[in-house]
Amino acid sequence: MKSVRLYNKVEIPAVGFGLWKNVIPGVVNKSVKTALGAGYTHFDSAQIYFNERFLRNALQKADVDRKDVFITTKIWNSNQPDGKFQKSLEKSLKKLDTDYVDLLLLHFPVTKTRQQAWKLMETAYKEGKAKSIGVSNYTISHLEELMNESSVKPMVNQVELHVFLQQRRTISSLKHIRH
Ligand SMILES: NC(=O)c1ccc[n+]([C@@H]2O[C@H](COP(=O)([O-])OP(=O)(O)OC[C@H]3O[C@@H](n4cnc5c(N)ncnc54)[C@H](OP(=O)(O)O)[C@@H]3O)[C@@H](O)[C@H]2O)c1
Repeated sequence: MKSVRLYNKVEIPAVGFGLWKNVIPGVVNKSVKTALGAGYTHFDSAQIYFNERFLRNALQKADVDRKDVFITTKIWNSNQPDGKFQKSLEKSLKKLDTDYVDLLLLHFPVTKTRQQAWKLMETAYKEGKAKSIGVSNYTISHLEELMNESSVKPMVNQVELHVFLQQRRTISSLKHIRH
């Protein structure tokens, strides 16, 4: 699988297997097994998908080594406040049965909590609980705010992007962001 090198030198597999709405354990097992067989190594989960534990079980059933897969999860909006953030991350790591995720994302730019939540993301990164950190659903103004305020810059902005939603301004703005 082709990968993309993030600025912190982490290699992210270019195509990931999305797990949104995949919440029936048997279906998770079967689909993850099929995805692995097809060459996927990157699995995109989130706290709000309620399937981190099912993903862990599916990967264990498939007998893959932790180091051979790239796991993404996302901090849900209501878990952004200090205290809740750390508890929810520990829960996610426990559900995934791992000491770290390869990529941890803030799921949405919540108005009142996103700025302090990013500081908690930086701590999680420095503690090794996330090999890389990023955001999701951020627009240009959110990215500008983050680039101005952060000490660890985001490595990823996960956004919806396809022919019917091309987000040209957001994508072209990223070209001007320098770490
Ligand atoms: N960060 C975020 O906020 C965010 C938001 C949305 C998605 N995501 C991530 O991106 C991934 C993809 O999202 P998306 O919006 O592209 O999802 P989507 O529009 O629901 O597309 C899912 C794809 O899976 C297919 N599919 C669904 N159920 C299936 C089944 N039972 N058997 C076989 N194929 C099935 C669909 O086929 P059909 O086209 O034939 O229905 C479709 O091609 C998500 O899983 C998630 O990981 C992240």
